[in-house]
Amino acid sequence: MFKKDLLKNKRILITGGGTGLGKEMAIHFAKHGAVLFICGRRENVLKETADEISKKYSTKVNYQTLDIRASKDVDDYVHSIFEESPLDGLVNNAAGNFISPTKDLSHKGFDAIANIVFHGTFYMTHSVGKRWIESSYKGSIINILTTWVWTGSPYVVPSAMSKSGINAMTKSLAAEWGKYGIKVNGIAPGPFPTKGAWERLNPENNDGDMMSTVPLGRVGEMSELQNLATFLMADGCDYLTGQTIGIDGAQYLTGGGTFSQLDKLSDEDWENMRKLIRDANNKDKANRS
Ligand code: HXC
Repeated sequence: MFKKDLLKNKRILITGGGTGLGKEMAIHFAKHGAVLFICGRRENVLKETADEISKKYSTKVNYQTLDIRASKDVDDYVHSIFEESPLDGLVNNAAGNFISPTKDLSHKGFDAIANIVFHGTFYMTHSVGKRWIESSYKGSIINILTTWVWTGSPYVVPSAMSKSGINAMTKSLAAEWGKYGIKVNGIAPGPFPTKGAWERLNPENNDGDMMSTVPLGRVGEMSELQNLATFLMADGCDYLTGQTIGIDGAQYLTGGGTFSQLDKLSDEDWENMRKLIRDANNKDKANRS
């Protein structure tokens, strides 16, 4: 779909780039010549991904363990990158989410998600954007959102609220930073199953239920998301800014939000679901320690 050198020497930072959608975008950017910076909380997966991509595409993939909830760590990391040379692009992909009835959420549960998605994404955007402005350097930001920014969604309220805030940031900064040559767009993927998301959002693997809400009758293919992200990151469409593009097989247009079907679950179903999600979280934590 694109020329091989479309992103040649573009320096692109992808948060949460070691796994899932972040990794998939990283692979496609590298395939088109980009120099990558990936960060996340687990060193082992970052290293593995960096090795895999740099070997396959003979491009440099830098990695750094970073929790984007820690604002000073975020700023120090971005400072260290810009000391060498400015970035050209930022993909705010790192996120946290799990399904839960909202009445059962603790305040810490709400914060766990809002601190990553709402606060962390702002810290990263602010750290990168202010350096672009200081050095009169143009850049492109892609925020990975969800279609819940338009519909809201039951059972993922902290995520829906936080992503909606980042959607507002997308439009606001496109207007405020347009004069500096900084473009800011969003991608709102529908169901693109990845291990991290599906363990927390579809722990019982009920793809059938979820697919019945997608007019195209299938989940997204990674190449479709990769192509859209690459198009938005490349030069040639600078006039396209402040937009959030849905890529969901028209799922959200059918109404009801992604998780409406969870209304039929009993308390016992939820208890089982919570256990599956906690097991996945604990496995991740064990990996981190
Ligand atoms: C209720 C839960 C819970 C659950 C955690 N909590 N899981 N409450 N139901 N299933 C509560 C805990 O009880 C605790 O509150 C609080 O949340 C913090 O839990 P920790 O495990 O200590 O948090 P932390 O280690 O910071 O982990 C953050 C996380 C975790 C968000 C909870 O899931 C994570 O690290 N996720 C990263 C990867 C991820 O989520 N990927 C999916 C993104 S998908 P108490 O009060 O008990 O102490 C996405 C959109 C996809 O964003 C769109 C698809 C259509």
